[in-house]
Amino acid sequence: MKALPPETVRLLCSSQVITSVLNVVKELVENSLDAGSSSLEVKLENYGLDRIEVRDNGSGIKATDVPVTAVKHYTSKISCHEDLQRLETYGFRGEALASICAISEVVITTRTADDDFSIQYSVDHNGQIVYQKPSHKILCTTVCAANLFNNLPVRRQYYSNTKKCKEELKRVQNLLMAYAVVKPELRITLSHNKAVVWQKSRVSDHRTALMAVLGVASVANMLPVQHHQEQPEIGIDGFFPKPGSDFNSTSSSTPDKTFIFVNSRPVHHKEILKLIKQYYTSAQSNKESANRRYPFLMMNITIPASTVDINLTPDKTEVMLQNKEGVLLAVETLLISLYGYSIDNDDLKTGGNRCHNCCEREMGKPQGGRPQEVSFQISPSKTQFPVVVIHSLCVAREK
Ligand SMILES: Nc1ncnc2c1ncn2[C@@H]1O[C@H](COP(=O)(O)OP(=O)(O)O)[C@@H](O)[C@H]1O
Ligand SMILES: [Mg+2]
Repeated sequence: MKALPPETVRLLCSSQVITSVLNVVKELVENSLDAGSSSLEVKLENYGLDRIEVRDNGSGIKATDVPVTAVKHYTSKISCHEDLQRLETYGFRGEALASICAISEVVITTRTADDDFSIQYSVDHNGQIVYQKPSHKILCTTVCAANLFNNLPVRRQYYSNTKKCKEELKRVQNLLMAYAVVKPELRITLSHNKAVVWQKSRVSDHRTALMAVLGVASVANMLPVQHHQEQPEIGIDGFFPKPGSDFNSTSSSTPDKTFIFVNSRPVHHKEILKLIKQYYTSAQSNKESANRRYPFLMMNITIPASTVDINLTPDKTEVMLQNKEGVLLAVETLLISLYGYSIDNDDLKTGGNRCHNCCEREMGKPQGGRPQEVSFQISPSKTQFPVVVIHSLCVAREK
């Protein structure tokens, strides 16, 4: 048995972290956001294969930090694993830039407020700076990754298919849209081969941000929703399709625009998505067609950082929730309040409940088995008073 050469280990590990053009964009964008940027320019050439450039207006990288920026496990975001309990940044592993360097040719140009001008650094596959030169005077950081996957023939080959490239470009756009929705103050431009594909200016609220992503007509069919509770501490803020709204303008056949966030991080969560689909469908008149649709929505679940593990997958899109049942119950409560009881729910077979406390609305059987009382607020429109609804969700007693 022999130890693998370090460069082989580097490439093998890095190509698991960075698997696609989308991954590169995600990591670079999250670094920009962690640096406090309010403006992002993402430029792709040849669908990102020839060049991916992300330019921001964040804090920049200090000259003394640049030599270790692309060295694996160097990070400015946490100092030890206990810091994950209080994590407020997207990044924390100090792994992305090093990995991107291993699968592409990276050039970083950066300037902090203390520097007179920016410096452009060329970084090799090992994350070492091989060349540097003074650059312009603008305060910004640009990270450019060129010739992606040139040392991974199969992956490069995968992108020789134009259809796959176009799909990847769409995924990049959807990802940027997710950040746009959750961070209205962010200005974003996405260009491909010098043509602007999509852009969004700075706006003041989530509704206007959603308009830039979904269009005015779709957002006109959506309602702001809020749910805030203590013990367990869970906040949900978002915009959901109005009950019974035309599904052509409030849903699509893919979940790309069902924007779910945990602590402002875009995530995939099958169970939450399933609940959303189920209740959205139940409020549609044509349930058969609606069944195959994913509603347009944004939902940001805010929970204490110490109750979520985001270190599950290299791309951090999956999360493990310490109090999953509590979060699912909070989401379901919100959905019931908005859409009423889901008749597709298998639980209906055991007999539905009505809310006898406040509205006589049919209520779903909460998961988990304990009586719960949850309060939440729905604001139908800015011009109306918010409606505060308190439901007692009582579980049918087992015989
Ligand atoms: N656009 C940027 N602006 C400011 N600092 C950056 C930027 N990109 C990377 N950095 C710095 O480089 C470090 C390493 O980045 P990365 O490899 O993505 O690891 P992580 O984000 O997990 O810390 C970051 O911790 C940050 O200090
Ligand atoms: Mg990072």
